[in-house]
Amino acid sequence: MQEKLLDSAATKILNGKNTKPTIVVHEFEPEDEVHVQRIFCEGMMEMISDTAFRGLRHHPESLLLYFTVAAVGLVITTCWWVIALLPAVVLCGRYFCSRRVIHGYLEKAMSSDMGHIEEFYTKSPDSRLWVATLDGQVIGIVAADGHKTEGFAELKRMSVDRRYRRCGVGMALGFKVLEFALTQGYATVVLGTTAYSPAAHQLYQRLGFQCSGITNGYVPHGATQSLLERIFYRVCHHHYRLDVKNIPLNGH
Ligand SMILES: CC(C)(COP(=O)(O)OP(=O)(O)OC[C@H]1O[C@@H](n2cnc3c(N)ncnc32)[C@H](O)[C@@H]1OP(=O)(O)O)[C@@H](O)C(=O)NCCC(=O)NCCS
Repeated sequence: MQEKLLDSAATKILNGKNTKPTIVVHEFEPEDEVHVQRIFCEGMMEMISDTAFRGLRHHPESLLLYFTVAAVGLVITTCWWVIALLPAVVLCGRYFCSRRVIHGYLEKAMSSDMGHIEEFYTKSPDSRLWVATLDGQVIGIVAADGHKTEGFAELKRMSVDRRYRRCGVGMALGFKVLEFALTQGYATVVLGTTAYSPAAHQLYQRLGFQCSGITNGYVPHGATQSLLERIFYRVCHHHYRLDVKNIPLNGH
């Protein structure tokens, strides 16, 4: 199955040419580090506009707050331009706060696993990071963090270089994590995402994950919970899980 997906990815990438490039998913090697960090950071930076703009549609409570503040401002000042300025103030505030939180998150990630990938993902049998490569070039990443006593592995750090999206790379990386979970004897794979873009949700659902809960008002690493952030930064954390025991991945 995975080979089929990779074939279709290769075909789409080549856009009709005859030679097939090979997409290979392999475990992290030290020379991949700079590319892995780039793809991770670029994927995270996309979350800024995703949270600030797309996220607005998912949080009616935030919209209600903004309108209430504008209405109160209008009553107090009796200036109509208070209303006219509202959309610009809200969008700028949301962008600024999302950017600050994502930068904080990136800083935390870089000072832990993503800044010390070799140490984190190659020394312990419970944690792995894989890269997808095309002609030797890193085009996607994913990691797994195993929790043996609790019996689950967490899928993390999924990101694909935007030039190679929609070609099956995300699926190939996802399968790697499921295969790891199966061979290492984990019963379940879990993941969490604050993305609103349909890409991440559709990908996880296609891999067989089911949404097991949503935390509204989730506070990610990197958030300071300042007043400004409470007003302009609000996200839902979607929890996904998949019981891997019965998935026939052998021979895919
Ligand atoms: C989410 C992400 C990893 C998907 O990677 P990808 O390589 O494009 O995914 P695939 O090509 O394997 O897509 C598999 C399926 O996911 C769904 N999907 C992927 N991108 C989609 C999009 N933009 N819109 C809707 N569905 C999408 C489709 O069902 C697709 O199957 P199809 O192409 O046969 O219809 C990629 O968009 C990405 O890196 N985004 C930025 C970082 C991010 O959001 N990471 C996840 C954080 S939890």
